[in-house]
Amino acid sequence: MKAAGLAGVIAGDTVISTVGKEGLDLNYRGYSIRDLAAHSTFEEVAYLLIYGKLPNVEELKAYTAKLVSLRSLPDGLKVTLEQLPANAHPMDVLRTGVSALGCLETENSFEEARDHADRLVASLGSMLVYWYHFANSGKRIEVESSESSVAGHFLDLLHGEAPSEDHRRCMDVSLILYAEHEFNASTFTSRVVTSTLSDYHSAIAAGIGALRGPLHGGANEKAMELIERFTDADEAEKELRDMLERKEKIMGFGHRVYRDSDPRSDIIKEWSLKLSQNSDKAFLYPVSERIEKVMWDEKHIFPNLDFYSASAYHYCGIPTAMFTPLFVISRVTGWTAHIIEERGVGKLIRPTADYTGPSPQAYPSIETRS
Ligand code: SDX
Repeated sequence: MKAAGLAGVIAGDTVISTVGKEGLDLNYRGYSIRDLAAHSTFEEVAYLLIYGKLPNVEELKAYTAKLVSLRSLPDGLKVTLEQLPANAHPMDVLRTGVSALGCLETENSFEEARDHADRLVASLGSMLVYWYHFANSGKRIEVESSESSVAGHFLDLLHGEAPSEDHRRCMDVSLILYAEHEFNASTFTSRVVTSTLSDYHSAIAAGIGALRGPLHGGANEKAMELIERFTDADEAEKELRDMLERKEKIMGFGHRVYRDSDPRSDIIKEWSLKLSQNSDKAFLYPVSERIEKVMWDEKHIFPNLDFYSASAYHYCGIPTAMFTPLFVISRVTGWTAHIIEERGVGKLIRPTADYTGPSPQAYPSIETRS
């Protein structure tokens, strides 16, 4: 079977999540995304994905404490981060940080994968914000905070103060929603790297590279760049119609697997609405809603998770260039589950291609070549 972009191709089995299956909601290991977003914390979801079950009270306490203890950055990593310029893309910073950590704290056996995953879940936010403050103001921040959650820790380091309860929980829910999504492009990339029996950090760095593009994780940044061009909904509608006329892609809309809606979108949309009510940029929400309406009316295309994440993150005071890195901080848990699953498969991923190049031809000496 051949399909452009491998669309519709079943490339393996997984027990980790279901996406777009008839009669089944998006779920992680059998738990509906709606239940997880309503009742869980990101730490519980990370544990579910990395360790295979929801933690009980004692396990969650121990896991949260473990993550808190793994936030610090080794000196060699700080020195590396300090070399990266302020105009570097934060995704490149994270990709470099993961590579550097892989040299300083190398995975010596596949049994160590879960420990390396916990280290990244705990320290990716530290890396990102350490670099951000050093590159922009020369300040070497402490990467510890009194916040016990990954979400709260990130916001505290970024803003230098404890976040509001709403911002903390919005970020927590967003990390839950972004954590896992079956054989998406970055996860599949991580699985391909893993299938060669490569190491954990190489698989994660490759996943970050795949996630960076605007057809995948980078769409949340592009969606923000779109909505912040407008201050009212009518203006947005006019420009959107012109963009569609010019056959431009609208970032944050559409999906390879879903046909009518992305079940994660309504959840983050509610957060965007809630946070807009206390913001001086409340107009971004009606602008977003109008764009959603035009896309549906004109193209029958719906927002994916990235679209309303953009305004929700903006309301939390997060710089746009950090949107996709936040996706990384969350998705590292899903990538890890797939890396571990792929190691269990133990079969090199190596498809074939139809050859469409030139017919066999005589080898020309260099003097006769045009
Ligand atoms: C993520 O795979 C995952 O699970 C990913 C993800 C995850 O959690 O891991 O859910 C996260 O990556 C979400 C997607 C983020 N990307 C974007 O928002 C970028 C914008 N969307 C697209 O370009 C597009 O919808 C894709 C890339 C997401 C899916 O593309 P497909 O399946 O290859 O479909 P296509 O590009 O061939 O589009 C089919 C038709 C085309 O029209 P026709 O040429 O048939 O007339 O739909 C149109 C497209 O032009 N279309 C869009 C559109 N998306 C599809 N038109 C305008 N704007 C869009 N966003």
